[in-house]
Amino acid sequence: MHGVISVNACRNSHFKVLRTSSQSFLTETVFSWDRHQIGELGLMDFYDVIKRRRSVRRFRTDDIEEATLRRILDAGLWAPSAGNLQPWGFMVIQDRELKQRLAKIHTEYSYRAWSEFKPEVAKDLASRGGTWKKEYLVDVPVWIVASYRRTIQKGFDEAAFASTWCAIENVLLAATAEGLGSCPYTLADGEEQAVREVLPIPKDHRIAAMIHIGYTDAKLKAPKRREFETTVGYDKFPVHEP
Ligand SMILES: Cc1cc2nc3c(=O)[nH]c(=O)nc-3n(C[C@H](O)[C@H](O)[C@H](O)COP(=O)(O)O)c2cc1C
Repeated sequence: MHGVISVNACRNSHFKVLRTSSQSFLTETVFSWDRHQIGELGLMDFYDVIKRRRSVRRFRTDDIEEATLRRILDAGLWAPSAGNLQPWGFMVIQDRELKQRLAKIHTEYSYRAWSEFKPEVAKDLASRGGTWKKEYLVDVPVWIVASYRRTIQKGFDEAAFASTWCAIENVLLAATAEGLGSCPYTLADGEEQAVREVLPIPKDHRIAAMIHIGYTDAKLKAPKRREFETTVGYDKFPVHEP
């Protein structure tokens, strides 16, 4: 039988977990939540987690506990994927020398990208900690290279890419729920090739994004979102303001 059959209070009275007893794999997931040490933000309401997630570009150097990192990565594995192909691969990078080599590449490419940004875009990103200088990334404790396999099924590249972004979002939200900051990072034109010279990414994989994760003291104001009314249309297309 599918679905939630009961709501159980867990050992820690701050939160409740929806439990399905009929699916052992779900029960297993629930058990690991039972043992979960709550992050500094505590267990947040689902929508609160969504709205609190910010792209963070200022991190503390504190390590992330292995068990915490595993939960975050596991959240990625539970994302939906086209045909349930699960085309993703997550390469976790913690080695400082690797990070140094990658940060050097990122700085080179992001200098070019930033020089092409409209001034208002650069100003907005800078106000939230964005910078073309990527040396700060060397101190970010965990990087995740999220890639997707291209050749599983012909003509499926877009679906594989989209599926991997679902997994990336799960990872970003799980990091938020754990009280960690994160930022997705996409590569500029030609940058993937340079990154491949440093990392052993298989030929049949493409990089969807890098994800940076770490503790942060940054208190970031949420950047403005489009209005609901101009973004959503019921039985009509919304009037989308550019
Ligand atoms: C597909 C994608 C690519 C992104 N690439 C970068 C990036 O290369 N560097 C970066 O600092 N932030 C990157 N971001 C983060 C965005 O700048 C950020 O999501 C946006 O400004 C909204 O801010 P918020 O995430 O705090 O809500 C990316 C986000 C997405 C979804």
